[in-house]
Amino acid sequence: VNSLNRGLADYCEQGMHSFHTPGHKGRAELLASLAFPGHDLTELPGLDMLHNPQGLIDQAQKKAAEIYGADETFFLVNGATSGNQAMFLALTAGHNRKKIRVERRAHRSVAGALILSGLEPEYIPAVIHPDFKLPLGLDSKNFCSPSEHIGAFHLTSPGYYGTLADLDTIIEWRNRNNPSIPVLVDQAHGAHLTGDLFPVGAVAQGADLVVHSSHKTLLALTQSAMIHVRGDRIDRTSLRKSLELLQTSSPSYLFLESLENSVLKLQEHSWQDLYEEVMLFRKRMDGRLRILTSADTGTFGIQAVDWSKILINISSLETNVTDFVNILRSSFKIEPELWDENNILFMLGMGSKPDDVRTLSNALEILVRRFRSSPVITGQAALKRGENILWEELGSRDCLPSVRLTPREAWLAVKKTIKVKDSLGRISGETISIYPPGIPLVIAGEEINSLILSRLTQAENHRWQGWQGYKQGEISVIDF
Ligand SMILES: Cc1ncc(COP(=O)(O)O)c(C=O)c1O
Repeated sequence: VNSLNRGLADYCEQGMHSFHTPGHKGRAELLASLAFPGHDLTELPGLDMLHNPQGLIDQAQKKAAEIYGADETFFLVNGATSGNQAMFLALTAGHNRKKIRVERRAHRSVAGALILSGLEPEYIPAVIHPDFKLPLGLDSKNFCSPSEHIGAFHLTSPGYYGTLADLDTIIEWRNRNNPSIPVLVDQAHGAHLTGDLFPVGAVAQGADLVVHSSHKTLLALTQSAMIHVRGDRIDRTSLRKSLELLQTSSPSYLFLESLENSVLKLQEHSWQDLYEEVMLFRKRMDGRLRILTSADTGTFGIQAVDWSKILINISSLETNVTDFVNILRSSFKIEPELWDENNILFMLGMGSKPDDVRTLSNALEILVRRFRSSPVITGQAALKRGENILWEELGSRDCLPSVRLTPREAWLAVKKTIKVKDSLGRISGETISIYPPGIPLVIAGEEINSLILSRLTQAENHRWQGWQGYKQGEISVIDF
């Protein structure tokens, strides 16, 4: 019988090596304190309440705030998604802020946050890396341009691929030029950025609001996340009310317990052995595979690189990514986090062991030999090969699709469904992303230009989210 239960059991039986979320990597010993089903409880006497914490939850949140250096931390049971949404809503409750500067490469939850809050976005393009053809960087000068209409900044750092933006410069610019503007950071991929081996986390850098997707790299159960606040630019009452509005009235105590467990273990966790193994891996692959490393710091808007994300580009090999990933999965039982036309991302977390990295390293060594590597091309030389990848074009302000309606206006507008091939020049009624990484190809309210149209019509093989009619070749557009 086909059932979710059977499917999960079958999947687990394959014994895949996890290079994806969640960060606990299925290692039961790291979650031993979470008693299931005994601790799957509700807000009973003595167990505190998420929306008005005074006891156990309050204490656990305070511990987290202390470790990250926040004034206050809130546990989330609906992922960093609800964190991004709450950050935006908190800006509007009683404040009527209108415009927010956001990166166009932001996760789709940011598009949702724009709908819910009604804030008007001013999109800043990412810097596209010529080797990986991915939006890895942010030009902080571009981000910091003056504007009277902007009420807040929101940026994503690190992004999915582990590259960090120059938050220090952005905060310094804000302090000098517009000290009342809050800086909000989606640090979904950086809950582990503590200690000497990693770049400094956004809370410590002085951001006003920071969201962590604690399940991605720590030991928290999937959906468990945190939001941290510092200083007085954010109205705490509005933030609390926003969290109460967005989150369930029945928070999972297992999630909450797993957040506390993550924070306590993070304090004593040593990443040293894993770090050293990643450095060995890089040495072994040097000149054979293009890997994103700290040598990329300072180039293409990248301020720092988190070594625990392993991004490889296989365009120098005589194979394609689909075949390559199939072999990795079937012959080596390696499960990456995601891949696209040229790149594969492997994610490490608190549950990862040096052996995992060695397994990956051995597998890649064999495959690189099998697919006879041509010399690894980097930088502008790679760009000249001119692959028509979406992000290349979305990397310039002029090429960003024009915003004809705010995401909220588009959400509320009457729509109709038309054939994708007839949609050039129409305003999209939906936000469509390839998942992962979940960066929208088009955001509701944007005009469908020829670039977006060409990507939509080459739609096979993509894991689309937010696109209701993709099987029929249809798209929802604003009806006027
Ligand atoms: C950059 C970014 N922000 C936010 C999220 C949402 O996080 P969650 O899955 O915890 O809701 C993701 C998820 O992939 C993400 O990549």
